[in-house]
Amino acid sequence: MPQQVRGVVAHSKGKPVSLETITIPDPGPGEALVQVQACGVCHTDLHYREGGINDEFPFLLGHEAAGIVESVGEGVTDVVPGDFVILNWRAVDGTCRACRRGEPWYCFSTHNATRKMTLASGQELSPALGIGAFAEKTLVHSGQCTKVNPAVAPEVAGLLGCGVMAGIGAAINTGGVGRGDSIAVIGCGGVGDAAIAGAKLAGASTIIAVDTDHRKLRWATEFGATHTINARENDVVEAVKALTGGNGANVVIDAVGRPETFTQAFYARDLAGTAVLVGVPTPEMTIDLPLIDVFGRGGAVKSSWYGDCLPSRDFPMLVDLHLQGRLPLEKFVTETVGLDDVEAAFAKMHSGEVLRSVVVM
Ligand SMILES: NC(=O)c1ccc[n+]([C@@H]2O[C@H](COP(=O)([O-])OP(=O)(O)OC[C@H]3O[C@@H](n4cnc5c(N)ncnc54)[C@H](O)[C@@H]3O)[C@@H](O)[C@H]2O)c1
Ligand SMILES: [Zn+2]
Ligand SMILES: [Zn+2]
Repeated sequence: MPQQVRGVVAHSKGKPVSLETITIPDPGPGEALVQVQACGVCHTDLHYREGGINDEFPFLLGHEAAGIVESVGEGVTDVVPGDFVILNWRAVDGTCRACRRGEPWYCFSTHNATRKMTLASGQELSPALGIGAFAEKTLVHSGQCTKVNPAVAPEVAGLLGCGVMAGIGAAINTGGVGRGDSIAVIGCGGVGDAAIAGAKLAGASTIIAVDTDHRKLRWATEFGATHTINARENDVVEAVKALTGGNGANVVIDAVGRPETFTQAFYARDLAGTAVLVGVPTPEMTIDLPLIDVFGRGGAVKSSWYGDCLPSRDFPMLVDLHLQGRLPLEKFVTETVGLDDVEAAFAKMHSGEVLRSVVVM
């Protein structure tokens, strides 16, 4: 029987979101219906609402979630009703050309539910990142459900489903940060602070936080930043060099995703260093770099999709580290809010008042 629940919908570009009754079909083959317990508000949700991702409105927003599997469709064996799961947007197919090369974290053909959730009018919803979890329940592919230790609180576990995983992975998986490295992180929101926490876990010895907001810089030190730079008051490239023996950092992560921050990341690297773009730019943004600098500075310029994570490998491991007190996920949660507070949470994200607002059902 299709079910009716409440969910947060973005109807058109730039318009405030609204809480709507949505209809969820029973799970089809390979699918799972999940009771959402908590879902973080990520900047990518705001990108969707602003039309920065694509034009497939209406969107059912929300994608950093944890919950309990309620029912599963035909042929599902990896999860059963009652399992506590973090939802992921990388349900690898195992057969695409990336998977066949042994690089499933790039999977080019990830699974999503094929049955559609709809508005009361019957209009089909586009779930953000194939998830749509600012809703009491959501329908996903069973591969999007990653089982983790249920001892973890849902409001922190869900964050691993997107921003925190993207940040940790940008440092550890994409940037390859290791013991003794220097790293700079530009943009200390949820994603940037997760990159800082990841660099600390990996043993980096110099961790430089860069932001335009003093409050964000103060929070960044709680995740492990050893130095901070206010980008409004300093030349970021010169300041990073000054903190790294005049050379630049081994790895610089752009967790903002704008031409100016990417250019800073490019030049704040040491020779042969790595620049990682994890912030998501909008389609009209361009950069103009002297090609001789791309050659002459060497190293690597990489993008980090979802922190190059493999949910089945990384989510349970990071939950375990959190439960052992080695990854302070709770520090990302500035506030917990209700389903009707998402628009207010966007405003707080915009003004820099929060690291993460987490919707708790
Ligand atoms: N690659 C991925 O898989 C992935 C996953 C999740 C989120 N993201 C993206 O990562 C980015 C960050 O997300 P978030 O949730 O942390 O956002 P956020 O809004 O919480 O954080 C952004 C931070 O950047 C700072 N900032 C803005 N302009 C700056 C500048 N010029 N210099 C320095 N700091 C600046 C802000 O003060 C803020 O602290 C977004 O673009 C989001 O879409 C990417
Ligand atoms: Zn694949
Ligand atoms: Zn996200």
